[in-house]
Amino acid sequence: MKLSINIDHVATLRQARGGNEPDPVTAAHLCELAGADGIVCHLREDRRHINDRDLRLLKETVKTKLDLEMAATDEIVAIAIATRPELATLVPERRQELTTEGGLDVRGNMERVRGVVSRLKDHGIRVSLFIDPLREQIEAAKQAGADTIEIHTGAFANARTEEEHRTRLDTVRESSRLARGLGLGVNAGHGLNYLNLIPFRTLADIEEVSIGHAVIVRALFVGLDRAVKEMLALVR
Ligand code: PXP
Repeated sequence: MKLSINIDHVATLRQARGGNEPDPVTAAHLCELAGADGIVCHLREDRRHINDRDLRLLKETVKTKLDLEMAATDEIVAIAIATRPELATLVPERRQELTTEGGLDVRGNMERVRGVVSRLKDHGIRVSLFIDPLREQIEAAKQAGADTIEIHTGAFANARTEEEHRTRLDTVRESSRLARGLGLGVNAGHGLNYLNLIPFRTLADIEEVSIGHAVIVRALFVGLDRAVKEMLALVR
């Protein structure tokens, strides 16, 4: 299983002060040096974290592979075509949401999704669709011409009881098997962390996980001790 790191939260921290720091492009570089297999960013329509400059520099500097999460809107599709990330992951986008809260309804928007998939593929960009682990959405993704799906793991990650956890994991397992059987690549992400990844690793058909929040939060905590000591050395 490969690991791509989503660096959106580094940009969120930068936006909190409206300055240049911390730079998500530097974060991407450090993630790659640590061994990450790819870098993920989401250029939202409202540019609430990653912005056009970040995307341009990420495309220039990422050495592994760049996965651009994006809404299937004309503006963002044009930017994706101009940028040419290795992978474009189509996600639903609602302005009020805190994060991407559900999978893309490929079946209900077949014409639109198929058109965008085909435009991106015509420009040499591989396309992934972020969907819930549902048979009808997986089959629709295949019909829409996607290369890969990314299974939304939010329901698994948010399971409250052990039984629900097991059931949700089984659903992801069966969905990933179905998708692989249809010839689709299978990625997964959303809410994965240092604890729930342990059972998740047993899913043989998942090729790659995309993780953001848990890694950036962990980075804060494992780095805090050193950061305070460095400042103390200056203060004293
Ligand atoms: N995959 C997709 C499509 C997402 O939208 C997100 C959240 O930005 C992730 C993966 C990563 O989720 P998390 O930040 O919870 O690890």
